[in-house]
Amino acid sequence: MVRINRIVVLLAVALGMSLPLAAQQLRVDCAKRVYALPGRPFMQKFKVYPLQASVEAKGLPEGLRWNEERRLIEGSVASEGSYAYYVCSQWGDSARCDTISLLVSGSLPQPTPFMGLLTWNIFEKEISDARMRQLADAMADLGLAKAGYRYLCLDDCWAAPDRNADGRLMYDAAKFPEGLNALANYIHKRGLCFGVYSDAGSRTCSGHQPGSLGSEMQDAQSFAEWGFDLLKYDYCNNPGTEREDAVASYSAMGQALGKYAKPGFIYYLCEWGNRQPWLWGAETGGTCWRSTPDTRDCWENPTYKGGLYDNILAMKDLWPYCGVNRFNDADMMMCGLHGSGKSSNAGTDGKGMTFRESQTQMILWCMWSSPLTLCFDITTLYDGRSRCGSGVRNPYYEDDLALITNPELIAIDQDPLGMAAEPVVFDSSQLVLMKDLSDGGFAVSITNLQEGNQEMKLPLSILPAMQPGVRYRCVDLLSGDEDLGVEKSRDTFVADLPSHATLVWRFWKM
Ligand code: GLA
Repeated sequence: MVRINRIVVLLAVALGMSLPLAAQQLRVDCAKRVYALPGRPFMQKFKVYPLQASVEAKGLPEGLRWNEERRLIEGSVASEGSYAYYVCSQWGDSARCDTISLLVSGSLPQPTPFMGLLTWNIFEKEISDARMRQLADAMADLGLAKAGYRYLCLDDCWAAPDRNADGRLMYDAAKFPEGLNALANYIHKRGLCFGVYSDAGSRTCSGHQPGSLGSEMQDAQSFAEWGFDLLKYDYCNNPGTEREDAVASYSAMGQALGKYAKPGFIYYLCEWGNRQPWLWGAETGGTCWRSTPDTRDCWENPTYKGGLYDNILAMKDLWPYCGVNRFNDADMMMCGLHGSGKSSNAGTDGKGMTFRESQTQMILWCMWSSPLTLCFDITTLYDGRSRCGSGVRNPYYEDDLALITNPELIAIDQDPLGMAAEPVVFDSSQLVLMKDLSDGGFAVSITNLQEGNQEMKLPLSILPAMQPGVRYRCVDLLSGDEDLGVEKSRDTFVADLPSHATLVWRFWKM
């Protein structure tokens, strides 16, 4: 990357320009239920349509203030409690006020997005007690847990095909001969958390085991007794197709978990974004929700979606709904699979993403504050040979481990402000994202969306979080290169980027 001075701003933010202004309806995109830790930095952002509409927050609790210039709420609230405030907007004759409820609590289940491993893409139904223990060992021994990947989650196909005579969900005793409590103990002793999967329908998505529809209380009790710390709750085979149906089913499980689950239990909705769970997921008790179709190991996937570019399209406008204890999940990262996954290969050429695409995925997931979930056989990271013995040959790349444990990137994902990056530029050739951070600084990424190399230009004047007249220290988080004294009105970053590659920088005020 080189820095050049005094470049005219060439890039425009394309927003709301297609309709005549008078015809545009007043709309405010924002989360209605937000969370904060006491005394910790808080921010809430709004997207207002049309852009020219006025907006203002009213009745803010002590410690929070309205930032008029950036049209956001910031500050911190010292005391635990439930608060309410209003966000009022006006455009022509239309006016509206939205009520926002804020819970300030020291015991939120997910103050920052969870990180872990889901067994689905690599193992599917070949999951067992032995394999889970090997994965737990690898997570602990390889430093993944230390880097933050602490949730080891059973995905589909862990249960017996039928409930027992009492209607109780049974684990598959052939796969888990010592029982789930013994496995939970093993996983907890390794300093990890244990996740489980179920479905809000009659059967799970694989069809292999019963879903929890109508058995929510009984199943939540079982999950608690077996020692789980997280539930991923899917949405296959539910008779309801509408949003209200999903809300009812997810609320039923949310209430059951409220009754039986231990404090700090994570309720992870997996509805794939079809019914906009960012609008109602928190209200059902969830603290993160899948916002995308299943990720696939490729750039674009016209058949199943879920390619990295498909995910960019699905995630790019969801930033106003992200915050502490409420995260939009972009699904499992493909890093480490190299085409060796199962469902992750559907609709792909089987070659897997390039390493540059893996880097882009990790960076974007961190910029969006998505949960970071791995789905490759991490036991191959010991020496390139799978100890999990699934026959999966999953080549060992030092670079994969370095990428997924990169502390600078993980710090962006785990930033306590919990913001998701907003697109500053998005067109057919590039994506520029900017993410506010808890220390008053921010991160910026630039992605080459084209098939070939491209010279990319980033005039710093387009970054809303950057203050004019202030000098910043800036670090390239992949190379570690540092630049001292960059300024908003003066500097432009220029870099030649290979196809689908991303650069990311962190900025601190000097
Ligand atoms: C759905 C989910 C996946 C996985 C499978 C299991 O497709 O979106 O993440 O859990 O079900 O069958």
